Amino acid sequence: MASESPREALKQHPQVHILEQSKQLRALLTIIRDHSTPRGDFIFYSDRVIRLLVEEGLNYLPVVDSVVETPTGSEFQGVDFLGKICGVSIMRAGEAMEQGLRDCCRSVRIGKILIQRDEETAQAKLYYAKLPADIASRYVLLLDPMLATGGSAIRAIEVLLEHGVQEEHILFLNLLCSPEGIRAVLDKFPKLQIITSDVDDGLDDNKFIMPGLGDFGCRYFGTD
Ligand code: URA
Repeated sequence: MASESPREALKQHPQVHILEQSKQLRALLTIIRDHSTPRGDFIFYSDRVIRLLVEEGLNYLPVVDSVVETPTGSEFQGVDFLGKICGVSIMRAGEAMEQGLRDCCRSVRIGKILIQRDEETAQAKLYYAKLPADIASRYVLLLDPMLATGGSAIRAIEVLLEHGVQEEHILFLNLLCSPEGIRAVLDKFPKLQIITSDVDDGLDDNKFIMPGLGDFGCRYFGTD
């Protein structure tokens, strides 16, 4: 029997949560992966996947029992969210995921982190961070659509930890991951959770995810 590929093995990783590959999701991913999809459709269908990712991410927040009375006078044994959340987008592509978070969590606070590769050192360098003052006491939904090498994600997570966020309170949401990116992030931060819609085969020589969907930010924001 052929041994399991690294990609298949990662699908079993307890910190990696892949959306159920329903026909709906496969159809949405097919549209956004198609190079000939016009920009309006790319935005619309990416937003649909982002909404699914946010809804799934919220499942990893703690809840407490909560009993309510329904209009029929009966009791319903439900649950209530425990703890405060915020979003943090990794600029620029992560900003495309902010509205999906706002659609699910009214008036949610959203911080931003800008990281770029330093051409001299080839290291991911922090250029800007604006975060809620009480971020240390919040669960953080970290937003970046493409987890490729993991370089920017690792630097962004370091910034969150420097601000007192607990590693196990970070939920990292992305549309597509490479196995290399997942391994790099989880090797350093084994307690965070990754929520994604698919794990692809790997990276090409230009560090693009394969088969991937190309440059997410350029396709979403209409730039080259
Ligand atoms: N960023 C993208 O937008 N696409 C990739 O494939 C990798 C990083």
